[in-house]
Amino acid sequence: MQLATTTLLLLATWPQQQQLESHNLSFVRDVLHNAAGQQRWTNTPIFLNSYVQREQMDQLLHWLHNNLSVASYQFDGTQEQPDTYNPLRNHIKNDALSLLFCHSAVEHIWWHLDERLSRLRQSKLIISLDALQNQLALRNIFAKLWSLQFMRVLVLHRQRIYTYTPYPSVRYYEIKLEHSSQLFPHHMPHNLHGYVISTPAQNDLPRVFRLRDERTGVLLIRGYGYRVLAEFLHRHNVRLIISNAGEILNLESNVNMTRINKLIGENKLEITMHPYVSIDRDLGILSYPLHIAQNCLIMPVRNEIPRFMYLLRPFHWSSWILLLFAVIYISLALYWLRPGLGHSPGLSFLVALCQLLFLSAPNHTYAPSLRYFLVALQLSVLGFFVTNWYSNQLSSSLTATLVGEQVNTFEQLIAQQQRILSKHHEVRMLLEQVPPHLKQQVERLVIGSEAGEQVSALLHFNVSYAYPFTVERWQFFALQQQYADKPIFRYSSVCLGAPVIGYPMRKDSHLESPLKHFIMRIQSIGLFQHWIVSDFNDALNAGYVHHIDNTRSFKALDLDAMRLGWFILLGGWLLTAVVFLGEHHYNHHHQHHLPVTSSLIQLQAIDRNTQNQPLKRGATISTQSTVGREAEQQSSRATSAAVDIKMQ
Ligand SMILES: *[C@@H]1O[C@H](CO)[C@@H](O)[C@H](O)[C@H]1NC(C)=O
Ligand SMILES: *[C@@H]1O[C@H](CO)[C@@H](O)[C@H](O)[C@H]1NC(C)=O
Ligand SMILES: *[C@@H]1O[C@H](CO)[C@@H](O)[C@H](O)[C@H]1NC(C)=O
Ligand SMILES: *[C@@H]1O[C@H](CO)[C@@H](O)[C@H](O)[C@H]1NC(C)=O
Repeated sequence: MQLATTTLLLLATWPQQQQLESHNLSFVRDVLHNAAGQQRWTNTPIFLNSYVQREQMDQLLHWLHNNLSVASYQFDGTQEQPDTYNPLRNHIKNDALSLLFCHSAVEHIWWHLDERLSRLRQSKLIISLDALQNQLALRNIFAKLWSLQFMRVLVLHRQRIYTYTPYPSVRYYEIKLEHSSQLFPHHMPHNLHGYVISTPAQNDLPRVFRLRDERTGVLLIRGYGYRVLAEFLHRHNVRLIISNAGEILNLESNVNMTRINKLIGENKLEITMHPYVSIDRDLGILSYPLHIAQNCLIMPVRNEIPRFMYLLRPFHWSSWILLLFAVIYISLALYWLRPGLGHSPGLSFLVALCQLLFLSAPNHTYAPSLRYFLVALQLSVLGFFVTNWYSNQLSSSLTATLVGEQVNTFEQLIAQQQRILSKHHEVRMLLEQVPPHLKQQVERLVIGSEAGEQVSALLHFNVSYAYPFTVERWQFFALQQQYADKPIFRYSSVCLGAPVIGYPMRKDSHLESPLKHFIMRIQSIGLFQHWIVSDFNDALNAGYVHHIDNTRSFKALDLDAMRLGWFILLGGWLLTAVVFLGEHHYNHHHQHHLPVTSSLIQLQAIDRNTQNQPLKRGATISTQSTVGREAEQQSSRATSAAVDIKMQ
């Protein structure tokens, strides 16, 4: 019993006894002094475990403040948990140099180091490892450092200085204080000596998609997502291994970004070649944006204007009314000028119409007056412009299919009950962007689906839905209808925010900073547009996309296209019929009431002359007197002919 107590006591006091030897602070100071001679820094976060003696530490702090004039922060793992939303990064710059005093690679203080120095991995770090530890602990420390992606590190152990390189695999080595001109290694060297990155490639048109070379059967990957990353890795001498190269993907399949992001969060993936709009901040980070792309709804084109209405399209209705008034006005002007038209208002109207239509006038004007000459000059210029304008506008309309008003607001979307097909995990993101007062109504229109279903519905031109996609995808999909007579989809202005699109990667990835500079450079060159077009051709050959049917691109004007003309003709006929009936009625009326006495007298005369021909009576009743006489003669001729026939 007593033995046990003494052992416990001994154990409790053991660290105190070892303090002096475990961390040689004067050596740490030497190294700091040397580092300050190479490059100054302004902040020193210090991470302590309980093995370091207070007085020595105070001396070091004092020296840091007075001799190197740097500010220091102390963390000993007993403070409250670090606020992940407010890391040191928000307060200090990259020119910090941190100190960590530790006993092994599995201490709580490492967690503090990780959290506090989040997004500060390019700053320098000096680790003082307990001198009582052996080489194995040293190796573990470096493995830990690499797993946290600290690159610019020195580890001090028994008056020796070690550093490491993870390229192509983690390897540490000793450096001498006296001989090194550059104590800390670069954050990321340009050459990574064949470092290996293994990541899957799925289908995600047009960012990444796979196809087989028809001749060699080799797996090819296309899409700007792949191209940018592959080019970046190639530049840095990194080997890219496609982890699912053997897998056979069908055309309809689509990358499961939930799964990829989860793999990144579990540290099973370092980076993915699939650009995406987000990754949970607990799982990883997004690289520097490849795009900041509008995310809007791809809408089916509807409300097509019938071809026969094209005749009215070239002019706005106000222009048509203006032209109508122009005809009346010109008729009046011509009537007043009277250039050999006599006093006919009808002829003036016809001439006005001809002038406006740039046709030759129905009358000839010999030796026109100066006044008439000036007016006619203006009229022919007007006629020339109006007719050419009209026919040019009309012919350009006929080359395409015109559509009327399209869905361009959330209100129209709701009014038309246009359903939206969205990926399951993006529904929430989508609804966040809808104006709050319309949210409930839009929510009813949103239908969740798997990513693959959604893309294949769009690629099969299923017009039952609208699809939320970023503009860079639309540019690609829209190439399918580039030659089409009639577009099937259009990019509406019902937009759902403008997300940034970048590569999801692990937290504090060593690739983040070089990738950022690389992306900046290729953006300034403008390779994206080039890639989109060349990728489209590859996707077309591999059968992912299709040009939509454009065999009917020439369409002759048919009877239906002339419908407006038929209506006008029909209207004209109706009008003539009405006028005819009117005239007829007018004449009938006059015949019955004015020449009534003369007709009666005539009838009596006829009766007296031709008693033996009752047939003639009916013929003469409704005709005028002259016509009656002709008919009388004709019928007598007819009867004599009949008599002739009988005689023969
Ligand atoms: C601490 O390091 C210094 C060199 O900077 C060395 O002279 C001294 O002996 C070391 N002390 C111990 C206890 O190892
Ligand atoms: C730096 O510290 C040393 C003691 O370690 C002291 O002698 C010296 O005066 C200091 N230099 C400055 C510039 O404060
Ligand atoms: C995508 O991955 C998540 C997480 O692994 C899984 O729950 C989901 O079922 C997957 N979706 C598909 C379509 O495979
Ligand atoms: C479009 O999708 C709906 C619902 O999934 C389906 O009923 C319809 O048949 C599809 N239309 C075409 C043309 O594929």
